Amino acid sequence: MTTHTPSTTVLGLGAMGTALARALLSAGHPVTVWNRTAAKADALVARGAARAASPAEAVAASPVVVACLLDYDSVREVLGTGNLQGRTIVNLTNGTPGQAREFAEWAACQGADYLDGGIMAVPPMIGSPAAFVLYSGSRTAFDRARPALDVFGESVYLGEDVGRAALTDIALLTGMYGMFGGILQSLALATSDGAPATGFAPMLTRWLQAMSGLVDTAAKQIDSGDYATGVVSNLGMQAAGFDNLLRTADEQGVSGELLAPLGRLMRQRAADGHAHEDVAGIIHHLRKDNA
Ligand SMILES: NC(=O)c1ccc[n+]([C@@H]2O[C@H](COP(=O)([O-])OP(=O)(O)OC[C@H]3O[C@@H](n4cnc5c(N)ncnc54)[C@H](OP(=O)(O)O)[C@@H]3O)[C@@H](O)[C@H]2O)c1
Repeated sequence: MTTHTPSTTVLGLGAMGTALARALLSAGHPVTVWNRTAAKADALVARGAARAASPAEAVAASPVVVACLLDYDSVREVLGTGNLQGRTIVNLTNGTPGQAREFAEWAACQGADYLDGGIMAVPPMIGSPAAFVLYSGSRTAFDRARPALDVFGESVYLGEDVGRAALTDIALLTGMYGMFGGILQSLALATSDGAPATGFAPMLTRWLQAMSGLVDTAAKQIDSGDYATGVVSNLGMQAAGFDNLLRTADEQGVSGELLAPLGRLMRQRAADGHAHEDVAGIIHHLRKDNA
């Protein structure tokens, strides 16, 4: 008896969509592809993918349709031209939790089962153990699409709340961009006297790795609401020292615009009577309801 792997459609062949389609082909899955700029499908077709002439044809070709386009507007535009009845739509396009919920309602009206996703990888990581992809929404859709999804990386299902994957994705990206901002500020400062960035980089890597423990420490403090236990570097001391980051940037002719807002929050939290606590308490000034 031969087993038949159902085909998967990939809509969108930018850097990420191409990586997804390539990974499916490498794993032996039949793949149908469509892209607005048709030439981007050529290399995949040469490797065995079927080319759809239109989004409607691409949707009709497979029970599972993976969309990886620029934004939700383009996904709506592209999927809006096909018959989605009975299809499982997996949307791996970056968006907000609100957009995911709105899209899920629209997909349900079209008769489709909807799974929202967030890819925690860059294209070269797709198909490697380093990649993980967040999913939320219909459990049935997740189970049905899973043979294809597991090809992309570790599949992490976060539950039926369809906005959860986008929220988690955006929270992770927020951490990443905060880190990027810190790294670039640091490199601007370290090279402000003409020193090469490469000489400084290993120390920065070492320091960031040593400080990465904040993630777990802050998470425990935030969940317990107790920022005063186990403090090794109190906020009052940190807020005072932070002024030197801004002053040094100024002395060296480097903008402090990425740092200044954090300094303000630290000073405010310390002035509000929390100088003896840990830095994680400033989360109360980030929440708009101050809860
Ligand atoms: N690359 C990454 O590192 C990465 C990582 C995680 C998540 N993602 C997410 O994956 C998604 C795709 O990223 P990417 O890197 O593949 O981007 P990309 O290389 O810029 O590709 C964008 C894709 O969207 C298509 N597109 C844009 N507007 C369209 C429209 N109005 N109608 C139809 N198609 C349209 C483009 O078609 P054309 O080829 O015709 O322009 C192309 O296929 C994004 O949501 C991104 O946030 C990317």
